[in-house]
Amino acid sequence: MKTSGGSDAAKRRAGESAAEAVDDGDVVGLGTGSTAAHAIRRLGERVDSGLDVRGVATSFASRELAADCGVPLLDLDEAVGTDAPGIDVAIDGADQVAVGGEGDETATGVGPLIKGGGAAHAREKLVDAAADRFLVVADPSKEAPVLDRSVPVEVLPAGRTAVAEAVRAAGGEPVLRRAERKDGPVVTDNGNLVLDCAFGEIDDPDALATTLATTPGVVEHGLFVGLTDEVHVGAEAGVRVARR
Ligand code: A5P
Repeated sequence: MKTSGGSDAAKRRAGESAAEAVDDGDVVGLGTGSTAAHAIRRLGERVDSGLDVRGVATSFASRELAADCGVPLLDLDEAVGTDAPGIDVAIDGADQVAVGGEGDETATGVGPLIKGGGAAHAREKLVDAAADRFLVVADPSKEAPVLDRSVPVEVLPAGRTAVAEAVRAAGGEPVLRRAERKDGPVVTDNGNLVLDCAFGEIDDPDALATTLATTPGVVEHGLFVGLTDEVHVGAEAGVRVARR
């Protein structure tokens, strides 16, 4: 279910552009995936050069990479709450970014997202939503006029059949995500399963997000609506930044 396509050079430009937007003293949400990894590596280089930041990881993978790159880490519980520093900025990738169709006068390039190709969307949403600013990093292959990729839905193992039925009732087709180098399903960092749910073109992401969020057994879904502040899109040369 990982997204394919998009050059690594474009992902690197996007990731590094967002990492440059981090200020000294910031607490930074560290996203998951190949594009966010470039941001984490660049932050590590900036830490080597004296930048004072602390990262909040969104997955086992981002925690491991940040530690390897020398980015000091805080747990989410240490970052948010009374007397905690808060999260100044989060940087994260996306599987799809809605940018509006041709002639869509409301298009800003900062539309809703689909996330969860790496099955990390539950913690990603926790961290990205808690941040003062949420920067999305992507290559042009992620942009689409309308969201139409499958929506990853993390479910309690005991709820997978009931949630699958609810998804069908909402017009979707759920598929249990299978592991590639293990027999059986993908098990998330939280010990849950993932249903990849195809809905075709999603004309009303907000309504679908509400339907999924209110389905018993759903831990978190991969629709991120109204959270993004900036989208950094790396091209073969240069970076486009769209702001809300
Ligand atoms: C992780 O679960 C996802 O939300 C990733 O952020 C998303 O899949 C983007 O990953 P890439 O940058 O590797 O395409």
